[in-house]
Amino acid sequence: MADKKIIAVVGATGAQGGGLARAILADRGSEFAVRALTRNVDGEKARALAAGGAEVVTTDIDDTHSVERAFAGAYGAFCLTNFWEHFSAEREVAQAEAMARAARAAGVRHVVWSTLEDTRKWVPLESDRMPTLHGKYKVPHFDGKGEADQKFRDAGVPTTWLLTSFYWDNLVHFGSGPKRGPDGILALTFPMGDRKLPGMAAEDIGKCTYGIFRRGKEFIGKTVGIAGEHLTGAEMATALSDSLGEPVRYNDVPPEVYRAFGFPGADDLGNMFQFKRDFNEYYTGARSVEFSRSLNPELLSFRAWLARYAKQIPLD
Ligand SMILES: NC(=O)c1ccc[n+]([C@@H]2O[C@H](COP(=O)([O-])OP(=O)(O)OC[C@H]3O[C@@H](n4cnc5c(N)ncnc54)[C@H](OP(=O)(O)O)[C@@H]3O)[C@@H](O)[C@H]2O)c1
Repeated sequence: MADKKIIAVVGATGAQGGGLARAILADRGSEFAVRALTRNVDGEKARALAAGGAEVVTTDIDDTHSVERAFAGAYGAFCLTNFWEHFSAEREVAQAEAMARAARAAGVRHVVWSTLEDTRKWVPLESDRMPTLHGKYKVPHFDGKGEADQKFRDAGVPTTWLLTSFYWDNLVHFGSGPKRGPDGILALTFPMGDRKLPGMAAEDIGKCTYGIFRRGKEFIGKTVGIAGEHLTGAEMATALSDSLGEPVRYNDVPPEVYRAFGFPGADDLGNMFQFKRDFNEYYTGARSVEFSRSLNPELLSFRAWLARYAKQIPLD
């Protein structure tokens, strides 16, 4: 243990970081050890990580000094922000800056930054293709992360920029699953037209990240994108029908209808799906399934994910 290289994992109690922590801990012969960073070391998830062999340390990514302490002596760091906790892209940028500076101060040798595109490079703010949100973003939970990419360059830390994909787990935990219509038929609603949505099991993000740390230098200075499968809404609906044993139809709605659904973040997600639809060739091209499988041979397809989790999808 003492001679292992430490990976400091931000978000270790969550989906992405948890997947990374579990991937390292499950590999008994790993060259790496896990330092799990959390604001709540007494929480159930933190205690499970400690029981699995992780060092668990208190950290708040809103506080650079706290992150510096947590990164001290680490070989690697997985850096993540959680937009959905506060809905502020500005705060994500500030947190990324704190992590980048801390990584620099601690001499971290490999950072993996979990990012997404700054969609304003494709849809300038003055474009009326989609509404501007929060004053200066098109897709706030993408744009803040993409804007923050530069913080890692500015800090001069050896970084891999990791473009992630839509979690299929959103069908279970984020209200994105099929809903029963007035006719009683289940419908999966996305404003994606007939375009493909790159998706993946959230757990596979961590497993792929483990592959990136293992292959080390090969990916420093590079942007890489990952996905488990690229599927149209119709293909997802067919797989869901087969798995659930009842018909699920794909309900393609215009992005403006999705934006108006009214749940918190509906406008952000409506713009996000429109970006993925309208720039589909770029977006799918940036997330290779084959490459993801080379990082993580256990990568799940959508049907394999459904075989494990379909029963957890809330249907009414
Ligand atoms: N849902 C999707 O389809 C999808 C796809 C791609 C990217 N994303 C992005 O994924 C991000 C969320 O990642 P996730 O799903 O892995 O998160 P999650 O499961 O919701 O968990 C959030 C994690 O972030 C940690 N965290 C949040 N604020 C913190 C702070 N101030 N200091 C220290 N740790 C903090 C939490 O740690 P503690 O609470 O233990 O401190 C927790 O481990 C979002 O920004 C989202 O935009 C989501």
